[in-house]
Amino acid sequence: MAVTIKSKREIELMRESCRLLAEVHAKLGEAIKPGISTLEIDVLGERLIRSCGCVPNFLHYNGYPASICVSVNDEVVHGIPSKDRILKEGDIVSLDAGLIYKGYHSDAARTYAVGKVSEEAAKLIQVTRQSFFEGIKYATEGCYLHDISYTIDSYCSSFGYGVVRDLVGHGIGTKLHEEPQIPNFRQWRRGIRLKAGMTLAIEPMINMGGWQVKWLDDDWTVVTRDGSLSAHYENTVLVTDGEPEILTLLPGME
Ligand code: MF3
Ligand code: CO
Repeated sequence: MAVTIKSKREIELMRESCRLLAEVHAKLGEAIKPGISTLEIDVLGERLIRSCGCVPNFLHYNGYPASICVSVNDEVVHGIPSKDRILKEGDIVSLDAGLIYKGYHSDAARTYAVGKVSEEAAKLIQVTRQSFFEGIKYATEGCYLHDISYTIDSYCSSFGYGVVRDLVGHGIGTKLHEEPQIPNFRQWRRGIRLKAGMTLAIEPMINMGGWQVKWLDDDWTVVTRDGSLSAHYENTVLVTDGEPEILTLLPGME
């Protein structure tokens, strides 16, 4: 299927889906403290999503068993929540969440420090987030998709970080994953030309060490191969003919 251009009505529905998700993320962020289990985060996230009349889109997606992906330290993405995994001071934790509102999907991820973390860990979180903002400078009509990829890659690589290659961002709309795929690393073709009305989930996954990852035997959890820390930052973005609209950020929030 080709890349979809959303109509005005669809954009309104995407906006609302994403705004609700931003609120869920804000509340999840407040819950991150030493002593909470990753399952408690998932239970809270599912409750928040359902309490606004929405449906968690990750739950049962290709068999994924939870609503929120909770990935700790060297876990890159798709960590499975567990009552036995307790966050402790100094950990970093990535929360990836999504929901469906009136048939329209939203998707966003944040990485948090648990209590006080090392300076290096805090920097990884900050650079990963900033790489998204560097990349979306090119999320505008007339730019090429891989301008975004190249910008994220060169920004993160300049800090010596590894840019994950096995997983990519994606278009989003009436399905969680639509075309196009959005790599976070340099491509040798420029990719499609961006048009106003495209909605894209842009999601750098950045390792403190090498870019290489592997899957654990649960067939979901992706971890860094060298055991280094990893961070993830994602928003659903609307391409316009000017500045992109970051749909999963609340005004005045990060
Ligand atoms: N943000 C992730 C993605 O774009 C979340 C999906 S994971 C799954 O693929 F749990 F839904 F499978
Ligand atoms: Co995504």
